[in-house]
Amino acid sequence: MKVLVVGGGGREHAMVWKIKQSPRVKEVFCAPGNAGIARDAVCIPIGAEDVDALLKFALETKIDLTVVGPEAPLTLGIVDKFRAEGLRIFGATKKAAELEGSKVLAKELMYKYNIPTAKYADFTDASKAIAYIKQNGAPCVVKADGLAAGKGVVVAMDEQTAVDAVKMIMEDKAFGESGNRLVVEEFLEGEEVSILAFTDGTAVIPMVSSQDHKRIFENDEGPNTGGMGAYSPAPVYTGDLEPFVYDRILLPTIEGMKTEGRTYEGVLYAGLMITKDGPKVLEYNARFGDPETQAVLMRLETDIVEIIDAVIDKRLAGMDIRWHDKAAVCVVMASGGYPGSYKKGDVISGLDEAAATGATVFHAGTAEKDGKIAASGGRVLGVTALGKTIPEAIENVYKAVDKISWDGVQFRRDIGKKALKHL
Ligand code: AMP
Ligand code: GLY
Repeated sequence: MKVLVVGGGGREHAMVWKIKQSPRVKEVFCAPGNAGIARDAVCIPIGAEDVDALLKFALETKIDLTVVGPEAPLTLGIVDKFRAEGLRIFGATKKAAELEGSKVLAKELMYKYNIPTAKYADFTDASKAIAYIKQNGAPCVVKADGLAAGKGVVVAMDEQTAVDAVKMIMEDKAFGESGNRLVVEEFLEGEEVSILAFTDGTAVIPMVSSQDHKRIFENDEGPNTGGMGAYSPAPVYTGDLEPFVYDRILLPTIEGMKTEGRTYEGVLYAGLMITKDGPKVLEYNARFGDPETQAVLMRLETDIVEIIDAVIDKRLAGMDIRWHDKAAVCVVMASGGYPGSYKKGDVISGLDEAAATGATVFHAGTAEKDGKIAASGGRVLGVTALGKTIPEAIENVYKAVDKISWDGVQFRRDIGKKALKHL
C-alpha cells in the first residue's frame, strides 16, 4: 500500500520510520518532510496546512492511507475532507481536535465528566481576568484558549506576571484570535508525564509512558521550547497509577467526547501532572507528541499500520499491542539561539558516525545543501537510542550525540536525569 504522512518534523520522521517497517507498505510519501525524511520517503513539497493540495495529491497518487502528524491540519478539518472523498485517514476530526484547539472546551469537558484537572475560570474580558487574578493571587497559570504553538501558556509565580500574561494574550493579541478567550488555572505541583493512547472512538489502548523536557536549559531552566528531549518509560508513572488514569481520565474523555457529538479517533495525548493528590490533566493534544513519539515508537513492537487500520475500522477493542521491554531516550539537538531567533544553513557533521553507534537519528529541521545536510530549523535532530534500562539508554544516546556537531549546536546533557531518582 501507499502511505502519506503529513508533517515535516522529528515526530513525522519517527512515524515514517515505523510505518516503513510494515510489510504491507510499499511506498511512503511525506508532505513536506525534511532532508532526513527524504532518505526514508518521497518528500512532496506541500505544506502540512495546505489541506486542499494534500487532498488533490492523495487522490491523484491513489494514496491508500494518510497519517497526520501535527495539530494544525486536524483543526482545519483534514480528516473530514479526506473522509468525504472516501480516503482512509488516521487522525481526529475537526470537532474532535477542538479538544486541543480550545482550552475552554477541554476544561468544560473535564468538569462535566469529573476528570481530575486544575480548578479554573475562563474569561473573554481582560479586566475581569485581571480582577480574578488579583482576588485569587499567585501562583497561577494563564492560558490562551486557542492554538499558540505551545507558547500560549504562562506559569506565573507572581501576580504581576499573570496580569502581564493577560495583557499579552488579550490586549496585545500575541497569538491573534487564539487570545479572544483565556483560562486562569490553579498552579499544580508535581512531576509531568505524557500518556498517549490509541482510540477508535470507543476503545482506548494506552501506549507506554514518556516524559518531555520543555525548557531549553539543563535543570529545567530558561524559556519553554517545543521539547528538548524525551524518554520512555517514565518511572514516575508507577503501575498503580495506570488503572486510575485509564478509568478516570482516558476512558471518560473518549466517552465524554462521544456523548458531546465529537467522537474522537486517532491518538489522544494526555499531559498529566502527578500531584500528591494523584494524576491531573494539564492539557490534551489531539495527536502524537513531539519529541515523545521518537522515544515511544522506538519501543513499539506491533506493526503500526495494523493498529491504524484497527482504529479506522473501529475494531481496536482487545487488540494486543506489544512493546519492547527496553528504555528509549531521545535528545533533541537544536540551533544556537533557539527558542529565540537562530541561524540557518550550517552543515551538520557526524551523522553517519552517530548512526554507526546504533542510535537512530530522526530529523526535524534539516535541509539538503550541496549534497550535504544542513540545520534549517530551531529543533534540528532527535537522536534516539534504546537500552536495557534508562541509564543504559542515556549512555547510548549521548555516545551518538557526541559524534554530531555544527556551528552553534545546543542540546541538554541531562535528558532522562529526572527518571534516575525514581530508580
Ligand atoms: P499546556 O500547553 O497546557 O500543557 O502547558 C504547557 C506547560 O505549562 C505544561 O507542560 C506545564 O509544564 C505547565 N503547566 C500548564 N498548566 C499548569 C498548571 N495548572 N500547573 C502547573 N504547570 C502547568
Ligand atoms: N511534547 C509536547 C507536545 O507535543 O505538545
